[in-house]
Amino acid sequence: MERGWLHGEGFLLCLILHLLLQGRADIFTINCSGFDQHGVDPAAFQAVFDRKAFRPVINYSIPTHVNISFTLSAILEVNAQLQLMTSFLWLNVIWYNPFIRWNPEECGGISKLSIATENLWLPDIFINEFMDVDQTPRGLMAYVTSEGHIRYDKPMKVTSICNLDIFYFPFDEQNCTLSFSSFLYTVENMVLGMEKEVQEISNISQNLIQNKGEWILLDIHQSTTEMTVDNSQYDQITFYVAIRRRPFLYIINLLVPSSFLMVIDALSFFLPAESENRAPFKMTLLLGYNVFLLMMNDLLPDTGTPLISVYFALCLSLMVLSLLETVFITYLLHLVTTQPPPMPRWLYSLLLHCTSPRERRLTAPQKGNKGLRLTPIQLPGLKEPMELVGKVPGPQEAELNGLRESTRTRQEDEAHKHLVSLWVQFSYMMDTLLFRLYLLFMVTSIITVMVLWST
Ligand SMILES: *[C@@H]1O[C@H](CO)[C@@H](O)[C@H](O)[C@H]1NC(C)=O
Ligand SMILES: *[C@@H]1O[C@H](CO)[C@@H](O)[C@H](O)[C@H]1NC(C)=O
Ligand SMILES: *[C@@H]1O[C@H](CO)[C@@H](O)[C@H](O)[C@H]1NC(C)=O
Ligand SMILES: *[C@@H]1O[C@H](CO)[C@@H](O)[C@H](O)[C@H]1NC(C)=O
Repeated sequence: MERGWLHGEGFLLCLILHLLLQGRADIFTINCSGFDQHGVDPAAFQAVFDRKAFRPVINYSIPTHVNISFTLSAILEVNAQLQLMTSFLWLNVIWYNPFIRWNPEECGGISKLSIATENLWLPDIFINEFMDVDQTPRGLMAYVTSEGHIRYDKPMKVTSICNLDIFYFPFDEQNCTLSFSSFLYTVENMVLGMEKEVQEISNISQNLIQNKGEWILLDIHQSTTEMTVDNSQYDQITFYVAIRRRPFLYIINLLVPSSFLMVIDALSFFLPAESENRAPFKMTLLLGYNVFLLMMNDLLPDTGTPLISVYFALCLSLMVLSLLETVFITYLLHLVTTQPPPMPRWLYSLLLHCTSPRERRLTAPQKGNKGLRLTPIQLPGLKEPMELVGKVPGPQEAELNGLRESTRTRQEDEAHKHLVSLWVQFSYMMDTLLFRLYLLFMVTSIITVMVLWST
């Protein structure tokens, strides 16, 4: 009997609970009759608005599923000095609110309403890399469906920190991350999901960013991770945004002028070394290059040492080297034409060995005319004439001596001229050799820089 009573009580309890739950389910259904005739009745939504301070779930053990997606519409700035990327994106957040539900048939087929977001609970999705105050405009609206799905879109100017490597500037690619996660809710209360395939996000963004600004969007990748902070786990979706700089502006403004100046510098070696024009010309080029560097300084990244700076420094040092070479050759020419030092025997044979057959043929008859006196052993004797002049000749021998001496001085003049011409020849050879070394160095360094850039 006792048992039967208990049984009856249990049945009654079950019935009451069942009725209560059913009643509750009805409470959450918004009575939307009349919406199509008198507009939306705010009182019908009051129960929903009153709950906006709390996460909209019936059973608090169940996490809220929030789906996100975004469209990257512009990459405004990439600041290498502050390591910041400023981009503009539209964030779409979709979640489910079980307290909003109505029957569209009761209200003339209204299945979607827009509601001011200040009346609704919003998931606190933020971007971990965000380094600025949120400038999201106030008073945004959200779409609410008759099933309780809420779609909230907001524009965001995202200044995110990004590890920028400008070594390959202006041919650089950057890989910036945007990690979306909840500010407060741990993984037990909020689970993040993707609203769209990442490939779709990537394609839409690529179409939008096309032909805009300095950067091209290459690709967007995505990975879902869990972030642990102080024993709490937060759901997090990380997007990797790969961008590449459009180098055209920099090629036109930096590389082309620099290359022109370099080519002119190399060609200026064809100006005759004995003319006084070469050094001032190179000086002017160097000055022009410095002015170019000063003007182009603000196009270069503010920090770090990109390869292009190394390239400019290389060009500058090549120009300085070529100027130094010209100074050296001019000095050498000046020295050997005014007071030629004795030519060492090895240098003489080297000169004979190295001059081209054509030049040798030109010098050979000269040498034949001057006979044995012009052997290199006698060439060093420049002081000899002075000693000979010092001797006072006898009066009878004067005429004969005068004749002999005039022939001798003529011969010595010839010897002197030949020595000078040999030295001049040597200077030209030095000039050619240094020019070839310069070209070799220039070509190897430029090829090295190009190879580094293309990798
Ligand atoms: C909905 O509200 C209208 C009046 O606004 C009322 O006549 C109707 O009975 C209500 N429907 C339900 C299911 O409560
Ligand atoms: C709430 O959800 C948890 C986990 O899904 C479940 O174990 C529990 O029974 C639910 N509570 C109610 C009252 O439905
Ligand atoms: C989120 O996305 C998943 C998978 O695409 C889907 O099953 C789920 O219903 C979505 N949730 C919401 C609230 O839209
Ligand atoms: C960007 O970096 C992430 C992690 O370092 C890597 O998984 C991803 O493949 C990179 N993306 C590109 C396009 O390099």
